[in-house]
Amino acid sequence: MFKRTRRLRVNENIRSLVRETFVNRMDLIYPIFVIEGENIKEEINSMPGVFRYSVDRLPEIIKEVEEAGIRGVLLFGIPEHKDECGTGAFEDDGIIQRAVRRIKEISDVYVITDVCMCEYTSHGHCGIIEDGYVDNDRTLEYLGKIALSHVKSGADMVAPSDMMDGRIRKIREVLDEAGYVNTPIMAYSAKYSSAFYGPFREAAESAPKFGNRKQYQMDPANIREAMIEIENDILEGADIVMVKPALAYLDVIRWARDKFNVPIAAYNVSGEYSMIKAAAKLGYIDEESAMMETLTSIKRAGADIIITYFALSAIHLIS
Ligand code: PBG
Repeated sequence: MFKRTRRLRVNENIRSLVRETFVNRMDLIYPIFVIEGENIKEEINSMPGVFRYSVDRLPEIIKEVEEAGIRGVLLFGIPEHKDECGTGAFEDDGIIQRAVRRIKEISDVYVITDVCMCEYTSHGHCGIIEDGYVDNDRTLEYLGKIALSHVKSGADMVAPSDMMDGRIRKIREVLDEAGYVNTPIMAYSAKYSSAFYGPFREAAESAPKFGNRKQYQMDPANIREAMIEIENDILEGADIVMVKPALAYLDVIRWARDKFNVPIAAYNVSGEYSMIKAAAKLGYIDEESAMMETLTSIKRAGADIIITYFALSAIHLIS
């Protein structure tokens, strides 16, 4: 005797009855790039179908997001001026601050802001440089200011992506002191030093001008260390923790899911998106199937939340 497991695969009716994992539109967060200027909606070369919007054109994409039934967006700012200390990141009329206010005027979509300095610093690193090294503790002061200015502008949640030690504690303190005790923090906890961020750095003009990010982002070879990062962030006050990228780190998502009880987010990053787009364009793979297989695998690995540039394309294929 052998077991006929194929019985439960004979048609879509039975396959859907026994299906274990579903991606829902409620799981998805859509990242949006906001750029200085007026009347801009420009496609990002390396990310077909993804655009940079000026603040005045944001309502268009927000309307699309709402119509798609997506509940959350994650904002990235591309400022006009950069300096050594990334001061543009916490200006009252900075790009993100204005973007958040504009979105909040027209929509109640949940607005999350990426808290980092690399788009705002002239050297492109995620913090303050001291003798060629990103100075951890000086950077914390800035991260606190940036997070607070986003929240003051109306951000519902902040997502620090810098990978400095102690940033979650610092940001939590600053927000609490200012009375924002109910504003959650989604920490990019296990953020790896990855080649898959390439298209994003083009999109956000945030590639480091010297060196790389290996002194603060994690070594792709390490998973136990990822658990330490996540544990630290939870102890410091993170409400949601993130693994990033997603696809090459499904095991990290699974370990995190099994070890911790907070919601887990996974970032299906720019390179993962562009890889599928490019291969599909060349006719090497079927875009929709590859997209759904990817999103399903991230969910199956244990992610509660998936941040993905595919959010708007995926909603036609999910419930
Ligand atoms: C900022 C940041 C990056 C991404 C999200 N926040 C780039 C980086 O760390 O170099 C990458 C997102 C993506 O690739 O889609 N630090």
